[in-house]
Amino acid sequence: MEDKRPVWTSKYAFIVTAVGSAVGLGNIWRFPYIMGQNGGAIFLITYILLISTICFVPLMNELYIGKLTKKECVGAYESMHHNLKYLGALNPITGILIASFYFIVGGWIINYIWKSLTCAQITNYENYFSEFIQNPIYPSILTVLFIFICVFVTARGIKRGIETANKTLMPLLAVILIFLVIVSLRLPNAGAGLEYMFKPDFSKLNFHMVLAALGQAFFTLSIGMGALLTYGSYIKEDKSLVKSVYTIILSDTAFAILAGIMIFPAVFSFNMPPNSGAGLVFVTLPKIFSQIPFGNFISFAFFVLLFCAAVTSGISIVEGPCATLIERFKMSRIKACTLIFFAITLLAIPATLSFGLLGNIKLFDKNIFDFLDFLTSNVMLPLNALFLCLISGWYLKVKGINIIQNKYMAALFDIGLKYIVPIALMSLMFLGLN
Ligand code: PHE
Repeated sequence: MEDKRPVWTSKYAFIVTAVGSAVGLGNIWRFPYIMGQNGGAIFLITYILLISTICFVPLMNELYIGKLTKKECVGAYESMHHNLKYLGALNPITGILIASFYFIVGGWIINYIWKSLTCAQITNYENYFSEFIQNPIYPSILTVLFIFICVFVTARGIKRGIETANKTLMPLLAVILIFLVIVSLRLPNAGAGLEYMFKPDFSKLNFHMVLAALGQAFFTLSIGMGALLTYGSYIKEDKSLVKSVYTIILSDTAFAILAGIMIFPAVFSFNMPPNSGAGLVFVTLPKIFSQIPFGNFISFAFFVLLFCAAVTSGISIVEGPCATLIERFKMSRIKACTLIFFAITLLAIPATLSFGLLGNIKLFDKNIFDFLDFLTSNVMLPLNALFLCLISGWYLKVKGINIIQNKYMAALFDIGLKYIVPIALMSLMFLGLN
């Protein structure tokens, strides 16, 4: 049993793991396709505006509450008021639910890494992808493998597992991303992709797009499931959080923009549609890779990149519930991780099968996978973030000036925490449910 709470070995270790949590499939898989569906440049501008202002508040708030209470989610909420522990428990539950669809995509990535490595000949990428995800066995095995990898790293503990994995995978991710950006920019007609990303068409500006940008910003910063609260609780030194929060936001945004610069020039260069949705990465890109020199190698690099991003976020998703089991139920880390492994597997298997065998099971008109995605991204993440902002702002009466030295920023933080962010989050949920 761990009787002493773990702490980050350095400030760098904390930043790199927090950035590792933020930079994930949300940046490389979700961001480009949501941007593609929402008009390109105008979405990007809105997104940057929102992520650098409104999102600062809940991100700071979550890290601050973790750092202040030095407890996992349930304990952190409980130390604010004993009845709040039930609300706190929603965080690790959200984590398990997110894991059970997010890790499935992790399994798909492993498959594509293998296919690139073995130089598999695929003639029709649409058919290949839809047949693959409908297969009852193969994706399930890969999903379980991906769950195992994330849980295994977490089971090794903060220093030997989580820190080491992030310190290794994040630099690798950055190098591969820059390499692929260069490859993409050298393709013929790459400029059209850049124009799509950076030349705004103001006629595409609408309320729905703004909320899509906000939802994406919350998801990509890992706000609302206690991952960052837990990471914040391991911060040792009494340094200001402001710089860390901006580093996380800036790095996350840089990774998302670079992912766009990697994807859109290639998409435009090959006259493919930029708005093909979730299949952009698994259908459109492999099709492009098959047509360029050294395509298999580039495809391999791309899916390794996605893998690094997914694992470092996956670890943070596991650590939240894991810390809860360790601290609340006095479990050893190994035991907690074993339990979490089975819990995620139990939910993820039916979700994988929902593309084929269990396809006719519908929850609110959605298959299990889509339902889990919808429930967590549109309801539970915003709801948890909303609760935490309301508790801090109205009940704990957290004052910005105690966290942020600059008094103007502190005043804006207070207004954001009490009014702006709760309203934004409620709009997000309202729209999501309609
Ligand atoms: N931020 C991660 C991504 O962009 C996803 C995530 C959400 C991770 C919530 C942890 C918690 O992929």
